[in-house]
Amino acid sequence: MSEIKQRASFGTRMGAIAASVGSAVGLGNIWRFPYQAGENGGGAYILVYLLCVVLLGIPVIMSEFVIGRSTHKNMKGALRQLSPKSKVHHFAYFCVIGSIVICSFYSVVCGWVIEYLYQAATGTLAGHTPAEYSQVFKDFVGSPVRGVTWTVLFLVINFAVMLLGVRRGVEGVSRVMMPLLFVILIVFCVNSLMLPGSHKGLEFLFSPDFAALGWDGVVDAMGQAFMSLSLGIAALVTYSSYFSDDSPLMKDAVTIASLDTLVALLAGVVIFPAVFSFGFEPAAGPELVFEVLPSVFYQMTGGYWWAILFFVLLFFASLTSTISLSEIPITFLTEEFKMSRAFATLLCAVVVIVLAALCALSFNVLSGATVAGMNIFSLFDYVGSNVFMLLGGLFTAIYVGWFLHKQVIMDQLAVRGRTSSFDYNYVVQCLRFFAPVAILIILYYYVTA
Ligand code: PFF
Repeated sequence: MSEIKQRASFGTRMGAIAASVGSAVGLGNIWRFPYQAGENGGGAYILVYLLCVVLLGIPVIMSEFVIGRSTHKNMKGALRQLSPKSKVHHFAYFCVIGSIVICSFYSVVCGWVIEYLYQAATGTLAGHTPAEYSQVFKDFVGSPVRGVTWTVLFLVINFAVMLLGVRRGVEGVSRVMMPLLFVILIVFCVNSLMLPGSHKGLEFLFSPDFAALGWDGVVDAMGQAFMSLSLGIAALVTYSSYFSDDSPLMKDAVTIASLDTLVALLAGVVIFPAVFSFGFEPAAGPELVFEVLPSVFYQMTGGYWWAILFFVLLFFASLTSTISLSEIPITFLTEEFKMSRAFATLLCAVVVIVLAALCALSFNVLSGATVAGMNIFSLFDYVGSNVFMLLGGLFTAIYVGWFLHKQVIMDQLAVRGRTSSFDYNYVVQCLRFFAPVAILIILYYYVTA
């Protein structure tokens, strides 16, 4: 049997798209995008964001897809096959470490999500005043036992899915969770839009104000597009290595980027009309999800169910992101070190659980351990999002744009044997010029901020 036949693959094109959208749709879409849009000039920010998706997001997705699908290998094997005489394949270590760093801090937040889901389901989350919700959250993250326990529980679920393999685990879970996520979002949207005064939320999110956008808003939009589309650490190289050879890559990349953007916009339509309708102040990040929104949900009729549904939504969004992060080191270990999937999964689980526990403890017993003023959690977040993802994206853009053989790109872009020269020029020119310049600007901005 040939190596390719033995290797796992996604069963259907739908499954491949669901898994990739699952990777892209995550906490970033729900707690970061809507607020950033509202704060940075609403419609003006959204317009710039859409441009970033077209000029930066889709081309970099394509660069990862070309590497993964043309070789059907993990990042290291892929680079070795594509550039056998060079040492670029060592870059794969950078991606593997990046994925572990990101998975570690991200899982802590996923742990918070499942504790809140549990509390919502058992009814203990209900019945607090807004000020008390802040305290509830502070008590929770302040407790080393609770923080670590829920993080570990989340990771056990995550790695149990990974043990099931690419088709039953990664694809199976994404195929169920992604459609459900859309259904939940739409139910929420209808409810939010029917609330009195919902137009104030829509104005906050959509009304264009170019003066409020500014240079900061443009850079934020570029950085957000990058994080949201899971670029730079070979998540999409790994997933596309499981794609079938005849799926139209360009169409898939556009579908994935569009669905990811749609979820981010719908999240805004869910959150802000509700927040404004009940007279709360908009916020972002943990404060929005764990302090403001519980207050909002429990003021609605059927608050018990809205709270549960919202944390289920977050759970689906976050689990499908962490499974894509976990697939990077697992595929790498099974192919480069010939480990069994079970052993590779266990090894990754141990490493990520230890690092994630340190991140969870950085809110309490390890809060004094800081580097450059950042606790371990913030350091992992900063390094993962700003260093690994951005430098990784810079590498893939330059590698595919400038160094990869034209024929490899043409073959991957081909649909039924024909490659559109528009598609080729669009992808390659953006990878050569726009993407590196944009990434260097974001890097400069983040490092000097
Ligand atoms: N795209 C995810 C989000 O928006 O939350 C985060 C992420 C997932 C980044 C997977 C990188 C990755 F490989």
